[in-house]
Amino acid sequence: MKVINLLNMKGGVAKTFSAVNMAYELWRSDYKVLVLDNDKQGNISRAYRRYDAENAAPVAKLLTGEWSLPEELIQATDYDGIDIITANMSLFGAVCSLMRENSGDITGRYRRLFGKICDKYDYCIIDNPPDIGINVVNALAVSEEVIVPVKVDEDALEGLDIVAEQIEDAKAINPSLTLKGVLVTSYQKTDGEAAGLKWLERERERGDSSCCRKYPVLGIIRYSMKVAENTFLRKPIYEYSPCCGAAQDYKKFVTAYTGKGR
Ligand SMILES: Nc1ncnc2c1ncn2[C@@H]1O[C@H](COP(=O)(O)OP(=O)(O)O)[C@@H](O)[C@H]1O
Ligand SMILES: [Mg+2]
Repeated sequence: MKVINLLNMKGGVAKTFSAVNMAYELWRSDYKVLVLDNDKQGNISRAYRRYDAENAAPVAKLLTGEWSLPEELIQATDYDGIDIITANMSLFGAVCSLMRENSGDITGRYRRLFGKICDKYDYCIIDNPPDIGINVVNALAVSEEVIVPVKVDEDALEGLDIVAEQIEDAKAINPSLTLKGVLVTSYQKTDGEAAGLKWLERERERGDSSCCRKYPVLGIIRYSMKVAENTFLRKPIYEYSPCCGAAQDYKKFVTAYTGKGR
């Protein structure tokens, strides 16, 4: 199982939307996918229609260690081949209680599960909150690759160095963790965004592996009115607008990423 972590300290950069659509496109390519909702907002749990506000969320139990069988944490979705570990606000309490505990292996909580299920899925996609808490550290401990979704407008690029530093720190607990690159999201070909993209590509050309500042652009997802209009739907874009730019771009990105077409 390859574990891909979508991380950026900023909100609104399409982490969740990218996670939703990556999982979906991997599934369309016949891969078995596990989605881990690591954000207490539970947005990807909603997208896959498994959000439950009432009970302690599976990801909270995963963090506190209050489970014995993987089946207690993992649910099937409506898509045969996409399973999910859901989140809700109870994740916040779990993070606080783990920080109070501050003993034992507090960064190895997700590892306990992933060791048991690694041959059941081809990919695991982790959607993260826009901050670094003990839940994010646990997720980095089980991840192989980090993809940083970015919008190239305003000051979005500033956050990249921070993510790169977090990943360098996380290598202490997971030496094989790799910052794979950035996924440019919601891209509009304005002068400003075109300049931002150029900057990213220049960074890459300068690429020096001893330095954190190396951000290969893995894909560019176009801004699409269809996405903006249907924010409330939160469904995989392919399901309501298969021909729009964003749907095509997620497909292209995932195909290039896995090196396999449908
Ligand atoms: N390609 C796109 N075109 C138009 N709007 C987009 C696109 N990608 C994301 N968005 C919008 O951007 C907003 C933030 O996305 P979201 O995935 O929730 O970000 P994050 O998880 O990083 O906070 C959402 O309203 C979403 O619909
Ligand atoms: Mg989100």
